[in-house]
Amino acid sequence: MSKDSPALKPATIAVKAGRPDRQPDQPLNTPLVMASTYVAGGDLEYGRYGNPTWTAFEEALGALEGGRCLSFASGLAAVSTVLDLVGNDSIVVAPQHAYNGTVMQLADLESRGRLRARLVDITDTDAVVAACEDAALVWLESPTNPALEVADIPTIRGAAHDAGAYVVVDNTFATPLLQQPLDLGVDLVIHSATKFLSGHSDVLLGAVVTRNDQLYDVLKGRRDLIGAIPGTLEAWLALRGLRTLHLRVERAQTNTQELVRRLEAHPAVSEVRYPGLGAIVSIVLAQGALAADLLTHKTKLWVHATSLGGVESTFERRRRWKTEPATIPDALVRMSVGIEDVDDLWADLETALGDLS
Ligand SMILES: Cc1ncc(COP(=O)(O)O)c(C=O)c1O
Repeated sequence: MSKDSPALKPATIAVKAGRPDRQPDQPLNTPLVMASTYVAGGDLEYGRYGNPTWTAFEEALGALEGGRCLSFASGLAAVSTVLDLVGNDSIVVAPQHAYNGTVMQLADLESRGRLRARLVDITDTDAVVAACEDAALVWLESPTNPALEVADIPTIRGAAHDAGAYVVVDNTFATPLLQQPLDLGVDLVIHSATKFLSGHSDVLLGAVVTRNDQLYDVLKGRRDLIGAIPGTLEAWLALRGLRTLHLRVERAQTNTQELVRRLEAHPAVSEVRYPGLGAIVSIVLAQGALAADLLTHKTKLWVHATSLGGVESTFERRRRWKTEPATIPDALVRMSVGIEDVDDLWADLETALGDLS
């Protein structure tokens, strides 16, 4: 594309980015490069430092988020590498309802004296702004998993930067199609690419994206040293999944909005949590935790499974995990809406909801 070409839209970027040069006999897709080492003298040298298949995925996600991307072995490997940016005894502000693995990682680091975690209610912007004072890193997840709370990213980002802190957004739920945090001025975006980006429940992968070259270099250096690198097949599958991200998110979101409308009117459901975008919705069952567990075992289409963001609809009662905080309602079921026909999804749910007692 020439410099004067109009900026491409996200759907086009998802299809086009991260391809080999358009030359005769080049494959359309970047191949799976299975290599632990490379002929010396180039940029790659060794398989822990780089891989053309990772690079193709990183180019595509980087283009969608508007920054430079590094892929990691999993979302939590990306989280861990970013948390490692802060100095000893630094304060990290984070949502009390961030993804449980992130909160557990913070607790683990705190228990070993590595940093101090300051957990906040991310919907209370004044409290978050106050908490930013003397922080080194402000971690945002918006919407949160599974409480589906939304943060005022621009206001918190401003307060965090005034305090000299870096700001990270875990953009796993929204995807770059619905929210581009780097455009809101944050320093880093992280993803569990395991979820919507890959989209087929067959890959574990993580990613960090930034516009800050210095941060990129530090994180790349950490990845080289720690070795939390993606598998080649995983990166290839994730890129293949990314090609249809816009179609999957559009369809799953339309399904979700229709299901939310129907769930809100159902007497067995006492609360529906949905921030108005994306394909994750949490419901609270009026008859309590037992009914919530029962629901997850009574459906034929909806699969009882953890994780989210796949083409198939899945759900689980989150408090079945002992590590889930007590502030998440006992009868809350997190639903990841897929791309099936919405009437089939509803019929399955409605039958199970009517059969709970
Ligand atoms: C919002 C969010 N961030 C991070 C992670 C961790 O990602 P992974 O499971 O790929 O390590 C998850 C996983 O569920 C998640 O939901």
